[in-house]
Amino acid sequence: MWQVRVAPCGDFDNHPFQSAHFGVEPLAAAMGAEITGVRLPDLSDDGIASLKQALWKHKMVYLKDQHLSHGEHEEFAGRLGRFAVDAYTQGVPEHREVHPIIKEADEVTPSLFGGGWHTDSPFLAEPPSVTTLRQVEGPPYGGDTTWTNTALAFRHLSETYQAMLRPLRVHMSASNNFATQAKLRGEPIDFGDDEKREQGLKGSFHPLVRKHPETGEDALYICDTYAVGIEGMTTHEAKPIIDFLVAHTTQHAFTCRLRWQPGMVCMWDNAATMHLGPNDYDGFRREMYRTTTAGGAPV
Ligand code: SIN
Repeated sequence: MWQVRVAPCGDFDNHPFQSAHFGVEPLAAAMGAEITGVRLPDLSDDGIASLKQALWKHKMVYLKDQHLSHGEHEEFAGRLGRFAVDAYTQGVPEHREVHPIIKEADEVTPSLFGGGWHTDSPFLAEPPSVTTLRQVEGPPYGGDTTWTNTALAFRHLSETYQAMLRPLRVHMSASNNFATQAKLRGEPIDFGDDEKREQGLKGSFHPLVRKHPETGEDALYICDTYAVGIEGMTTHEAKPIIDFLVAHTTQHAFTCRLRWQPGMVCMWDNAATMHLGPNDYDGFRREMYRTTTAGGAPV
């Protein structure tokens, strides 16, 4: 018999990271923070190191009024680490690491890039670590991006459930997403080349509880869009665990939601978050640019 789910309480600790290089204003109790008083191209090397520490703490950070050119965006993102090869998108001419995500005002689509809860490209053997996203133009309302803190969600599981999850490896594959998108759009996703497509379908097995490569913090590595199984389990055995973890992790209490402004730049930590951008702004143009930083194999 199901019982009423009790809202998580306790253990929320999004107090501001202290930096000599910028100000920090937390966005929500669970995660997220605005970085103030600095323009990204002006950060020194120590400032970039401090920004990364702020990102590991808050999981998603954003800055208003940056109005970066493609060149400035690429140069800033390149200071976060080596660029990843994106599984889906291609760069703009002359700035191949800066990838457009644009929905035109007259475009009506049943499926939007990034429209379901996901972490970026977890089907890769080495999924990206940090994603940056900037807005050039956006709708007057709608088009918000929401994140959830998967480290906080892990801490809110019972010790018994945590212990059960620790040895498990989750199968991340683009197979369900391919099938769903093909059904919704009436045609397959353009995945670039056959090798990328095969790799996406085959996917990768990763720890379901991963240790952050910089902080050692444990986080759930779960994904509504790409988690399709658990190593050694039948689909029937794995599905209830995946469904529970997605429902648990995406509870309101673990999330933050960003209302975009033109000129804003944000970045998130794919090792400790999921995110989604809802398809709720038909009739308005939304022009975004994104970069991804290479990550290692999750451990
Ligand atoms: C993404 O999933 O990377 C895009 C999210 C958004 O456009 O808000």
